[in-house]
Amino acid sequence: MAAGRILTGMRPTGPLHLGHYVGALENWLRLQREYECFFLIADYQAFGDHLDEIDRIRRSVFDVTLDWLAVGLDPEASAFVVQGYVPEHAELTLYFSMLTPKSWLDRNPTLKAEIAQIESEHDTISMGFYNYPLSQAADILLPKADLVPVGEDQEPHIELTREIARRFNRAYGETFPEPKSLMGRVPRLLGLDGQAKMSKSLDNAIYLSDDAKTVQRKVRRMVTDITGTHPRMQATDPGVVEYNPVFNYHDAFNPNADEVADLKERYERGTVSDGEVKDKLVDALNTFLDPIRERRAQYEAHPDQVAQILEAGSERERKIARETIGEVREKMRLTYTPDALTAPVGKRK
Ligand code: TRP
Repeated sequence: MAAGRILTGMRPTGPLHLGHYVGALENWLRLQREYECFFLIADYQAFGDHLDEIDRIRRSVFDVTLDWLAVGLDPEASAFVVQGYVPEHAELTLYFSMLTPKSWLDRNPTLKAEIAQIESEHDTISMGFYNYPLSQAADILLPKADLVPVGEDQEPHIELTREIARRFNRAYGETFPEPKSLMGRVPRLLGLDGQAKMSKSLDNAIYLSDDAKTVQRKVRRMVTDITGTHPRMQATDPGVVEYNPVFNYHDAFNPNADEVADLKERYERGTVSDGEVKDKLVDALNTFLDPIRERRAQYEAHPDQVAQILEAGSERERKIARETIGEVREKMRLTYTPDALTAPVGKRK
């Protein structure tokens, strides 16, 4: 019996990289065995700021699904849901947008930062983007999830979700649980260039779908000193492990703890070359990625199967979503049955 219900999700904006694995997927793999899980591909949310790139988002829905399957998320045990396949997401978002004071969005630090970022590039954001934290609250509350595994930056959205649940429950009667966020073990993985953020545009990430040669090429050009002040010119220069992101990756992906400890020790003493540290990382990463690549290729060759997984998972959530929306309409008295049409004004039935 599942210990509770989980909903979490991702925006389909490109293939997933090692940072997604360490920050989210690894955690989800563990959770799918203990909880009833809904894994959401938030296409509506991606449209909020990429409506001009629908084709790219569609491709990303496929990529994200392939990556999830490739790492071992199990579509039999958990439901893979496409947000847009369950239009109840949109309906609940609408009700929440009427229930929520605008000030609650204005003070949301994650939204604020994203708006500032977008507005520095284009002139304005869409209303859909402005509203996405409410759509996220609807994502979570529609299946009445108890737990939401997310990264730290999403915490304001989960807090907002709890506030909306409370406000709804107070106004219309107990309906929604107040969901809790679940922060994973967060071994922050740095970009290949040492930056804290990884992205396609920075070209500083290794993707789950990268082939062995690409991984080798990317690791070879990784920076080895994030401070820029400890240049290590040769293998006999003592190095500083914490300044070197290559060790950050060894810690996250090299299962051979003795080898990692030995490399670190020799690095600090100046008896190992950067090249050797990197070659060992290439081996570890490719060993880690090989089975993932294999599963990904299998599914990629069967897009019909992938489409079927998304349909079945969405249908599974939709059954629950219909019930929740029915309950919400009834509690909000948005029903127009003969009884409701003739009910006395201002009195609750
Ligand atoms: N905002 C999340 C992200 O950018 C994606 C997301 C959409 C999500 N709906 C969600 C996360 C519901 C958790 C729960 O990664």
